[in-house]
Amino acid sequence: MRFTLENWAEAFASLPVRPRPYRNAAVSLRGHGVDEQAERARVLVEVGLNVFRFPAALIPGCDLLTDSGTTTMTMPQWAALLLGDESYGSNEGYFELKRQVVETFGPAWENRDRNFESVFIFHQGRAAEHGLFSCLGRMLDARARVRGDGRPWFVIPSNGHFDTTQANVEANGFEARNLFSPEQRAKDASAPFRGNMDTGALHALLADPATRERVPLVYLTITNNTGGGQPVSLENIRQVSELCRAWEVPLLFDACRFAENAWFIREREPGREGRGIAETVREMFEFCDGFHISLKKDGLANIGGCLCVCEDGLLVKRFPGIREALTMHQVLVEGHPTYGGLAGRDLKAIAEGLRTAVRQEYLDWRIGQVGRFGAAVDEACGADVTVKPFGGHAVYIDLDRFFAGTGLGDGDFPGISLTALLLVAGHRLCELGVYAFGKEVNGREVGPEPRVNNVRAAIPRLCYEDEDLRACAGAIGLLYRERERVPGVEVTYGKDRPMRHFISRFRFRDGTIETRRRAENGAGRARTGA
Ligand code: F0G
Repeated sequence: MRFTLENWAEAFASLPVRPRPYRNAAVSLRGHGVDEQAERARVLVEVGLNVFRFPAALIPGCDLLTDSGTTTMTMPQWAALLLGDESYGSNEGYFELKRQVVETFGPAWENRDRNFESVFIFHQGRAAEHGLFSCLGRMLDARARVRGDGRPWFVIPSNGHFDTTQANVEANGFEARNLFSPEQRAKDASAPFRGNMDTGALHALLADPATRERVPLVYLTITNNTGGGQPVSLENIRQVSELCRAWEVPLLFDACRFAENAWFIREREPGREGRGIAETVREMFEFCDGFHISLKKDGLANIGGCLCVCEDGLLVKRFPGIREALTMHQVLVEGHPTYGGLAGRDLKAIAEGLRTAVRQEYLDWRIGQVGRFGAAVDEACGADVTVKPFGGHAVYIDLDRFFAGTGLGDGDFPGISLTALLLVAGHRLCELGVYAFGKEVNGREVGPEPRVNNVRAAIPRLCYEDEDLRACAGAIGLLYRERERVPGVEVTYGKDRPMRHFISRFRFRDGTIETRRRAENGAGRARTGA
C-alpha cells in the first residue's frame, strides 16, 4: 500500500515517546558534585531533618515539596512582567485580570455592578480563605454560637477541605466537615472521580431544616487535594449544585486546580467527547455562586490568589453585605482592591498564566507526567507502593505499604525518615501522614481520623523532565530495597505545636532497624531474666 502524508503523520503520532509541548528558554543551574552529598547530610542534621528548612540551593534533584508557586513561567508570562504597570490604583493588570477571569470562567463572572468588585484579589489562596471566612464569621457572629456539646453551631461541608481552608473555617468559628465520596473512603484504586462529594450525606444535611439552617454555604475542592488531586466529575458538581439551589444554599469552589479537573472530566466522563477544556471549565463554573483560587497552581503564577463572587448568585443573595465586608477587609490587610497585595506585573503574569493553563497539549503532558512518575516509583520499588488512581498534581507514597513488615511503627515516624534520606539523595518530598496530621493530646499521640499516612511528591508545572523524575523514583526504589535499614526518628522540638510538621525538629534514632530490634529483644530478655 502506498503511504500518503496522512498515513505518515498518523504513524508518527502513534510513537510511544512524544516530545514535550514546550522547550527550555532559560535554565536554573544546580550543582551536583559528589562532595555535596556529604554537605547535604551535614546540613540535614543542622536543620533537624525538617524539609521546609533545608536550603533549596542544595537540592540538585527534584524539589517536589509542592506544586504551589513553583511553576516555571512561560516566555509570554516573563514578557508580561516587563510590561507591568505599577500604578497604585486601577493599574493595567487589574483590568486585564478581570477580563481574563470572564474569558476563562464564563460570563457569570462579569463585573457589571459599579459599586462593588466581583474579583477580590489576594496575595495567595489562604488569604482569600481568611477574607471570606472572617467576614462571614463576623456577619453570622459564628464564634459566639456553639452547640450543647461545645462544637460550633455552623457547619461548612466540603468534599475535602484543604488544611488551610479547614484552619480558616475553624479559626472563624465554623465546623469544617468533610463529606468524602464512598470511593474515597473505600480507597477505591479504580474510581475515575474519587474526589467527588458524598451527595447522599449532603442531601441528609440539607433536607432537614434543623441542620440546613446551620449550613451557610457548601464547598467543593476541585481537584480534591486529598490523594494527590483526585478529580470531581461534572455530574457530581451538577448534583451538588442542584441540592444547594433547591434549598438556596450558596455553593463555592476551591478552584486551585480547575484546569486539571476539567482535563479529567474531558478524559473520563461519559458524553464529554469532543468538548474542549476551555468549554468544560466554563460549564463547571456555571454551577457555583463564587470561588476562591490560589493562582499559584493553575494560575501558573509564583504568587497570587483571588475570591470571585457571582453578582447574581446565592452568596450575594444570602449575604448582601459580603462584598462590602470583603472590600473593607482587603483595604485593611492586602491593599487597595485593585491590586490586593500583588504587584501590577504579577496581575499580568497571572492573566497570561490562566490562558496557558487550559491548553490541551499542556495538560496532556502535565497530567501524563504525574502518572508516568507514579508508575516509575512503583517500578523502581518493584512493588505497589503508590496511591491509585494517580491524581492531577502529585503522587502519594503509602507509608503503611512502604514500611510494612519492617517493625517501624507510627511512633518512629518513618515518613520523616524517608523524606530526610531523600534529601541526602538530592530530592525533596513531604510527609503528609501521622506526623503532619496527627497531634499530641495530653502527652499522647493521636493519629488522623480517618487514617492517612503518606509521603507526597507534588510535581511543579513545566519544571522537570521525565528523566529528572526517574532519578527521584530511583532514589525512592533504593530506599525501598533497603527499608530494613531506615531508622526511625525522635522529635526534638514541636511535637505539641499546631501545624507541627512545618516547624518541628527531629533526629534519627541510633542505628538501623536491625540493631533496634536486637536492642529491644535484648532488653526483653533482660527483663524476663532469660
Ligand atoms: N486550597 C487548596 C486545595 C490548596 O491545595 C492550597 C494550597 C490552598 C487552598 C491554599 O493556597 O497556598 O496559595 O495559600 N496548597 C499547597 C499545597 C500549599 O502544597 O498543596 P495558598
